Amino acid sequence: MFVSRAAVSRVMSASARSMSTKVAVLGAAGGIGQPLSMLLKLSSAVDELSCYDVRGSPGVAADLSHIPTKASVKGYLGASEGQEEELGKALTGASVVVIPAGVPRKPGMTRDDLFNINAGIVKTLVEGCAEHCPDALIAIISNPVNSTVPIAAEILKAKGVYNPKKLCGVTTLDVIRANTFVGSHLQKDPATIDVPVIGGHAGITILPLFSQVPGFTATDEELEALTVRTQFGGDEVVKAKAGAGSATLSMAYAGFIFAENVVKAMKGEECVQCAFVESSLTDARFFASPCKFGLNGVEEVLPFGQLSAYEKGWFDKMMPDLKAQIQKGIEFAAK
Ligand code: NAD
Ligand code: LMR
Repeated sequence: MFVSRAAVSRVMSASARSMSTKVAVLGAAGGIGQPLSMLLKLSSAVDELSCYDVRGSPGVAADLSHIPTKASVKGYLGASEGQEEELGKALTGASVVVIPAGVPRKPGMTRDDLFNINAGIVKTLVEGCAEHCPDALIAIISNPVNSTVPIAAEILKAKGVYNPKKLCGVTTLDVIRANTFVGSHLQKDPATIDVPVIGGHAGITILPLFSQVPGFTATDEELEALTVRTQFGGDEVVKAKAGAGSATLSMAYAGFIFAENVVKAMKGEECVQCAFVESSLTDARFFASPCKFGLNGVEEVLPFGQLSAYEKGWFDKMMPDLKAQIQKGIEFAAK
C-alpha cells in the first residue's frame, strides 16, 4: 500500500502532539526556579512538572499543585541527613530539563566569579541527567553560561550520551531585553520586535543585531547606548537589587518562553529562537544564534546574517573572551 509522505508526517506530528511531556526544573526553590515553575505549571504544553532543589522544593510543589491546570507537580529533594537523594526520581521520564540551580551575582562580581561554585553544581546535575534522562533536552540557565554549557557537553560526552541537538544555554533574557529597549526607543510595542542576539551570555560576548530589526533607526550614540545596555542589562538589575541577587522574574519569564517553545517544537510546532549551542558558524565551539527547534531539539543552527560595520567591531572584540570562557569550562570538566 502506498502511504504518502504527507500522511506519514501527519501521523508523526499527531503522535508528537499527543506525547506526554515531563519538564524538570533543577533549582526550583530559587529566585528564578519558583516563578519559572509557576509559569510552566500554567502552560497547557506541560503534562508533568518536576521540581528539584536541595531545599524547599516539596513546599514549592505543594503550593503549585493547588493551581487548577493539567500539569501534575511533584517536589524532590537533594540528599541531607535522613533524606535520600531524589535527583534520579526527579529526572526519570523528563523530556526537558531546565537548570537554574546555583549562586547569583552580587554587585561588583562578574558572572565568571560564580564559576567556582556553579561549575560543580552543574556538573553534578548533568551527571544525573546522563544517568536518568539521557535523551532529554537540557537548558542551562546557571551562570557563567559561556562555561557551564561546555562543562555539560564534556560531562555528557564522557558518559557517552552527548547529543548537541539536546544541549542549550538559555540566552532568551538577552533577546527580551533587546526587544524591550528597542521597543521603547522606537516607541513600538516590544512584543512586535524580535532582535537576534548572538555570541554568548556575559558582557561584551552578548551582541544584539539591531541592524536586522525592520524599521530600526538610531544615531551612533543611541545605537551604542542600546547595545551596551543589552550587554550589561544584568548588571543594571544586580546593582538595583543591591546584594539581594540578580534578575529572577524577567529570567523566569525568559526561561519559560524558551522551555515552552522547546516543548511545543517537540510536539510538532517548529519554532526559531536564539540559543547558545554547539556551532560551526564561527571558530568558537559554542555560539548563540537563531536555531530551528523541532521534534528532536535543535534541528538546525541558523546563520546570523550580515553584520553591520559597527556589529563587526563588537564581534571581533568578543571572540577572544568567548573562546577563553568556553575553554575554561572544557578544562574544568577534564579535571
Ligand atoms: P537563587 O540563589 O535564588 O536560587 C538558586 C537555587 O539553586 C536555590 O534554591 C538553591 O537551593 C538551588 N541549588 C543550589 N545548589 C543546587 C543543587 N546542587 N541542586 C539543586 N538545586 C541547587 O539564585 P537565582 O537568582 O535563581 O539564580 C540562579 C542562577 O541563574 C545563577 O547562577 C544566576 O547567575 C543565573 N542566571 C542566569 C541568567 C541567564 O540569562 N542565563 C539570568 C539570571 C540568572
Ligand atoms: C542576567 O543577565 O541578568 C543574568 O545573567 C544574571 C547576572 O548575573 O547578570
